[in-house]
Amino acid sequence: MNTAIAHTNIALIKYWGKQDEQLRLPLMSSLSMTLDAFYTDTSIEFADEDKFYLNGTLQTDASAQRVFTYIHKLQALLNLRPESVVIKSVNHVPTAAGLASSSSAFAALAGAFNRLYKLDLNHKQLSILARIGSGSASRSIFGGFSIWKKGVTSDDSFAYPIDENPTMDLHLLAIELDTKPKSLSSTEGMKLAKTSPFFNHWLEANDSELDAMISAINNNDFTALGELAEYNANEMHAINLSAKPGFTYFVPETLKAIELIHTLRKNGIECYYTIDAGPNVKVLCQLKNVKDIQKYFVSEFNNVKIVSASFGPGISYLD
Ligand code: PMV
Repeated sequence: MNTAIAHTNIALIKYWGKQDEQLRLPLMSSLSMTLDAFYTDTSIEFADEDKFYLNGTLQTDASAQRVFTYIHKLQALLNLRPESVVIKSVNHVPTAAGLASSSSAFAALAGAFNRLYKLDLNHKQLSILARIGSGSASRSIFGGFSIWKKGVTSDDSFAYPIDENPTMDLHLLAIELDTKPKSLSSTEGMKLAKTSPFFNHWLEANDSELDAMISAINNNDFTALGELAEYNANEMHAINLSAKPGFTYFVPETLKAIELIHTLRKNGIECYYTIDAGPNVKVLCQLKNVKDIQKYFVSEFNNVKIVSASFGPGISYLD
């Protein structure tokens, strides 16, 4: 068995725009926090026929197609025998999380592939392979805080860690507000976002926002980190609204959650939000406020599911 385990990450400075679709080269650098509460383990073996099992169920839909397109791409790219494989993935992403699992999924798959072909790749090379499957997966090779620098070619667009064992008091509450599959894939969303008149500003601000986030982390400054993460997420969603045609991943409950976070902040409970390509909200806070924030969300929303997370580790192997 060639089994790899990778954890999901959440971007604090987001990747939202590609320079190359095939290779998933981004137009900007991004910075993320790897989470302990959510991970994927993936095993891969040579077989007579390509098969992909997710959580024990054989997949025959678009997800299986995406996985095998990826495997065939890697085999071609690395001049490997184009053999068939059986892939078994388990997502340990609580259904309550409302979190996309593509970052942990493609990082774990890249790791398992590395083992299958005995490639002995280092973490930088693994990050490149993971990126080709899903951009955000490049960052899940590492634990703690990591940066994916945009690069100009496939060989220099990879993630690296800035602190794999952070001591910062930083917690994330994943608030599940809506379980419907998202209406627009991140690939489609990123394409449309480029039509916004504010897209150039988004690109121009990337270097300074990245630098400011690195400073916030180095100075152990939760307030600066939270304010900037929230601002960066707002910029991404503003670009979506101002695209031609405009669109949004928000649902009414998303705005209600944002309002609650503003109210909590006014009342002295310091917390910030970040939101990805979907309607669910992730709250950034410190340990002392986790319980209170959970309590307020439970009382304001019917049947809301909340999962608390902190820093998770980089890729590992089951051997
Ligand atoms: O790489 P993808 O397709 O999972 O896109 C990730 C897009 C965001 O989650 C919105 C931002 C990010 O950097 O993770």
